[in-house]
Amino acid sequence: MEVILVDGPNDAAHLLADTVEDCVAHTSPTSLGVATGSTPVAGYSELVRRHRAGVGPSYADTTFFTLDEYVGLAADSPATYRATIARDLTDPLGVAADRVHGPDTTPSTLQTAGERYEQLIAEAGGIDLQIVGIGTDGHIGFNEPSSSLASRTRFKTLAHSTRVDNARFFDSIDEVPHHALTQGLGTIMDARKVLLVATGPTKASAVAATIEGPMAARCPASVLQMHPHVVAVVDAEAASQLQWRNYYREAFDGKMRWKGQPGQ
Ligand code: F6R
Repeated sequence: MEVILVDGPNDAAHLLADTVEDCVAHTSPTSLGVATGSTPVAGYSELVRRHRAGVGPSYADTTFFTLDEYVGLAADSPATYRATIARDLTDPLGVAADRVHGPDTTPSTLQTAGERYEQLIAEAGGIDLQIVGIGTDGHIGFNEPSSSLASRTRFKTLAHSTRVDNARFFDSIDEVPHHALTQGLGTIMDARKVLLVATGPTKASAVAATIEGPMAARCPASVLQMHPHVVAVVDAEAASQLQWRNYYREAFDGKMRWKGQPGQ
């Protein structure tokens, strides 16, 4: 895993935007897996800012897949992840609605929703770049602790701590759904590249377990240790419990120096 330590959320946002633009510019057609939650929002705003300034790539050939979706919200609720991604990212980028996909939470067909979402991703040729945030309990997507490390898109029950963490997006905790459809850990592991972004002090323990802990279902994000192409962008507060911070800085500086060599 490549660990890039940055000072704060603003630097993380720029790196997220750079990584997405690099992927979109060099892969055509492109499939992007997009997380919601607070962490990527500043990065999405930066992508939108660049797009509006006319310096970003064209997204005409890009298909978006949300990482997960609440089950139990009204289809027109502004809190659905599909609405959130449209609002924060794909509408401002001018992406047509039929290029933005999320798991189908229609109650009558919930049983097959996971399989159908996997099929949709496969038909798009798989995900080129998957952006993930991390929960305070180490979840990615809504794969809570004890999730199978090989899991595919499916129905999950949210941990109480996750509902408490996400209550800020609702009028009260009672409105936070108890369930979600989420890409599985195996689904996320199939993405060709994964960008994990973690900012703020509440993520410090989960980040340390993800990057330096044993790979274990108690910290679902730790499965990323087995992925050959993960970049973890971690700000100073989220990195505070990492033991190998100096090495991550040395490795990053070394890579930059190497890139600066003639011919690189
Ligand atoms: C959101 C998602 C979640 C969040 C995680 C962190 O689509 O899948 O795993 O990434 O809960 O949320 P924030 O960024 O709000 O701290």
